[in-house]
Amino acid sequence: MSLIQAGNVRLNVVERGRGTPLLLVHGYPLDHSMWQGQIDGLADSSRVIAPDLRGFGTSDVTAGTVTMEQMADDLAALLDALKIKVPIVFCGLSMGGYVAWQFALRHRARVAKLILCDTRAVADSSEAAAGRRKTAEKVLAEGTSIAAESLVPKLFAPATYQEQPQIVEATKQVILRKKPEGIAAALQGMAERPDVTAQLSKIDVPALLICGEHDGISPPSEMRQIAEQMPRARFVQIAAAGHMSPLEQPEAVNAEIRTLAQ
Ligand code: MLT
Repeated sequence: MSLIQAGNVRLNVVERGRGTPLLLVHGYPLDHSMWQGQIDGLADSSRVIAPDLRGFGTSDVTAGTVTMEQMADDLAALLDALKIKVPIVFCGLSMGGYVAWQFALRHRARVAKLILCDTRAVADSSEAAAGRRKTAEKVLAEGTSIAAESLVPKLFAPATYQEQPQIVEATKQVILRKKPEGIAAALQGMAERPDVTAQLSKIDVPALLICGEHDGISPPSEMRQIAEQMPRARFVQIAAAGHMSPLEQPEAVNAEIRTLAQ
């Protein structure tokens, strides 16, 4: 792990392996550790790069609002800092997917292929955005346990809660270690993220859309529709997984990533 100056922010980054760069971008309110199964499983064939986004893990925190566009630009600055000039495979989960859309739209030449895991293209409804802003205030006032309590029961498939409770507990601990300012800033950023549905037809790189069959946050039916609107996308559903499919079923997800990334 190392802290790398990327534009005006220092990002913590884990790097392993050689080959085409595979950038793994975590969801809210997590960090690079959710990709351990991919770091271990894919570094034999890719240069795996798993950063903590601004405000998460041990990266610098910016209070206020951190937009998805800002996070995408941070990642472009990170690639500059790592002297990566070749187009990369960008893989983002959920909030990491919101960042992926912005990266693909703002830094098109840097993207060879796109992997969207358990994510959405639409913006928040006004009620959902208001709910996020309220949660941001509560997290600042009361701490990160609010975020852990509301989110952890929604993240996983029923089988994961029963058969892999260690994953559930580890995820909860990751959320509890976060800084309230980082969580609140990302909530504000997600609340104001744009709807990218009308732009999907322009994102014409080879793309893979991965969704856990029990994902209730970004359901398979919605992700299948996103894939249908992209010119070169394939949709795949992962059995016995919820919203955290790469963490819940790393082997199945890695097999799909390999088919696209190589
Ligand atoms: C995530 O996993 O990143 C979040 O569920 C995204 C969201 O709250 O929209």
